[in-house]
Amino acid sequence: MRTRSPICSATFTLTILILLVLGAVNTRTASATDSDIDQRINSLIEQMTLEEKLGQLTQQWGGESQDINPGAQKRQLDDLLGVARVGAVGSFLGAYGAEYTNKLQRAAVEESRLKIPLIIGNDVIHGYRTVFPVPLAESATWDPELVELSARVAATEARAGGTHWTFAPMIDVSRDARWGRIVETAGEDPYFSSVMAAARVRGFQGKSLKDKDAVAACAKHFVAYGAGEGGRDYNTVDISDQTLRDIHMPPFAAAVDAGVASIMSAFNEINGTPATANRYTIDKILRGELGFNGFIVSDWTSITEMINHGLARDAADAAQQAIRAGVDMDMCSFSYRDHLDDMVKNGSLSKEIVDRAVRRVLRAKFDLGLFDNPYADPALETKVTLADEHRTAARRVAAKSMVLLKNENGLLPLADGVKTIALVGPMVDNNHDPLGTWSLNGKDEDVVTVLAGMKKRAQAAGMKVLHAKGCDFAKEDAEALKQAVQIAKQADVVLAFVGEYEMSTGEAHSKADLDLPAPQLALIKAVMAANKKTAVVLMTGRPLTIPFLVENAPAILAAWHPGVECGNAVADVLFGDENPAARLPVTWPRHVGQIPIYYNHKKTGRPPNDTRYTSKYIDQPWTPQFPFGYGLSYTTFEYSDLEVEPTSATVADTLTVTVKVTNTGSRDGDEVIQLYVRDLIGSVTRPVKELKAFERVSIGAGATKTVTFEVPCNQLGFHNAESKYVVEPGAFKVFVGPNAAEGLEADFEIGSAE
Ligand code: NOJ
Repeated sequence: MRTRSPICSATFTLTILILLVLGAVNTRTASATDSDIDQRINSLIEQMTLEEKLGQLTQQWGGESQDINPGAQKRQLDDLLGVARVGAVGSFLGAYGAEYTNKLQRAAVEESRLKIPLIIGNDVIHGYRTVFPVPLAESATWDPELVELSARVAATEARAGGTHWTFAPMIDVSRDARWGRIVETAGEDPYFSSVMAAARVRGFQGKSLKDKDAVAACAKHFVAYGAGEGGRDYNTVDISDQTLRDIHMPPFAAAVDAGVASIMSAFNEINGTPATANRYTIDKILRGELGFNGFIVSDWTSITEMINHGLARDAADAAQQAIRAGVDMDMCSFSYRDHLDDMVKNGSLSKEIVDRAVRRVLRAKFDLGLFDNPYADPALETKVTLADEHRTAARRVAAKSMVLLKNENGLLPLADGVKTIALVGPMVDNNHDPLGTWSLNGKDEDVVTVLAGMKKRAQAAGMKVLHAKGCDFAKEDAEALKQAVQIAKQADVVLAFVGEYEMSTGEAHSKADLDLPAPQLALIKAVMAANKKTAVVLMTGRPLTIPFLVENAPAILAAWHPGVECGNAVADVLFGDENPAARLPVTWPRHVGQIPIYYNHKKTGRPPNDTRYTSKYIDQPWTPQFPFGYGLSYTTFEYSDLEVEPTSATVADTLTVTVKVTNTGSRDGDEVIQLYVRDLIGSVTRPVKELKAFERVSIGAGATKTVTFEVPCNQLGFHNAESKYVVEPGAFKVFVGPNAAEGLEADFEIGSAE
């Protein structure tokens, strides 16, 4: 149904070569090991009772009780140990730490009849204890190596703490900043999200799942969860098959190519069928066309939620629909454990369907080496948790994720002549919100606040730091505002750290209004009236609509929710130790009414222009505030000499696209060079532009680099009206530039195969 991305195809070819070499050297050992595992799985399945099988397919909450009453805590632990002992559970989530998870594991491995280990799953989304920037921010680095590094660090800490499996990466494509979970995505583009998806899978899974620093990844949420109507979480998804396959499916294809161990089915329905019982997407596309052979877990109670969807009569009906569709493990609805046994016993569900799911779950446990090494090592946990090199990596990724949106008259970085800086806003002396959503093991006390990081760096530069909060996130404070204005008057430069508190993005945090909350806007207006040299540092998990700031503030930096190294990373960028090069992975709207707004939109019969009867608004521009891929630097770059070879290609060819990029400023810097393609005429309409390659390149001040992209023509296709992947002959344009709205262009054509 699709072809592989260039990156994936390179990985794929390499993998094949390695496999071939390994095969030539040691075919017998490799296959013997595999069939040995198959035999062990078969033998376990033969010995298992139906109840034990359904136990393996059940995941339940296994967290430590938050209840301070020790009696209640003990009762809860006893219950969890009890289900593990009788083999009524295959997996816990919410259990953390080597010591605690080992207790649970011991009950399964040493006391249960068949001694099958538990697989402990958790949401390790952007770091474990060393919290990295939120995933949208990490993606803004446009650097898959950094994204992989973050996942590597997270896996190292998580596995040492007894987590075998992360419910990440989240690879939903989102075109809607109202959706709170856009913060967990890599943004709006299918190709970009695919590159990031593969990087995260590689990072989590490492070289071998058996290693002490690897966790099984879980690509989620399958599928099209990011396309909920109105940006509301869990909402209905009704999209064309082309959109499903060309926009939402590619990151899953990339994750499968990268060897992802598991996939989570989504909460939403897709064109009338909930994702958790959707045989078309799971069976036909994911397993059939993409060749996924790992295991599938439902999202939390998404099986029984099919009763609410109106697809299932009751929990039993929901359970049989989900397992038939190929969902192997039930997260927390208990519908498999409670209902499938009767159906198997009365013959309405075949035992083979249950065995198929059990086989996949056991396979994952073998792949993780849990039968041989079921326990976490507390000494290793102490050693790696929040290790210095992990913090260094988190600081690097955070600094490289901050997008400079505006910088009039070079207000940033803070210049030598600056003697006093005033820091205002609710994010300054704040050690909680910079962690961002889903930072479950993050601790406030680990966070370097903006205040601490800026003070430290300012001291080194001999600058004085003044601080006043000015207001709360959504609450005015007249006295605090007065103090902020006072210090703004005394300072050479004011830095306003504003944005969203941690919980205003993430699951179940959709918004209908994306404006910066009024008290924060009022604060900025007040300090700007006192001191024009006010730079805004926006700390959010999604784009906010900020037309006033874009119009009036001289400088704006999108710093997102940067994680534990927040203050240091922000200081790196504001003081110019790091030259920003991050880019927006999503189109940034001016107004919430423009949503969905995305760069790879269709052309329409009446493309917007200044004449009346064209596709636009009468009260807002049709253009975004900032285009996809946008971001500035403390230096400047110029593009020249775009060439494409051959200009007449066939589908079998690979285009070589070269461009020269010159750093025309006086600082070294990185430039993210982006390559887009437009297919001019198609048998179905084609987007105005589609990202097909990108690279973040370091270029010294005054230097020129020639950058070359290899773009296989077989990547330039789409799904036609028959849902078949085709590359159609015809005329194309290629654009190379710094974002989706600017760049040089050249023409080429793809001829028919004959
Ligand atoms: C529900 C969320 O949708 C999913 O992403 C997460 O992994 C599970 N809860 C488990 O926490």
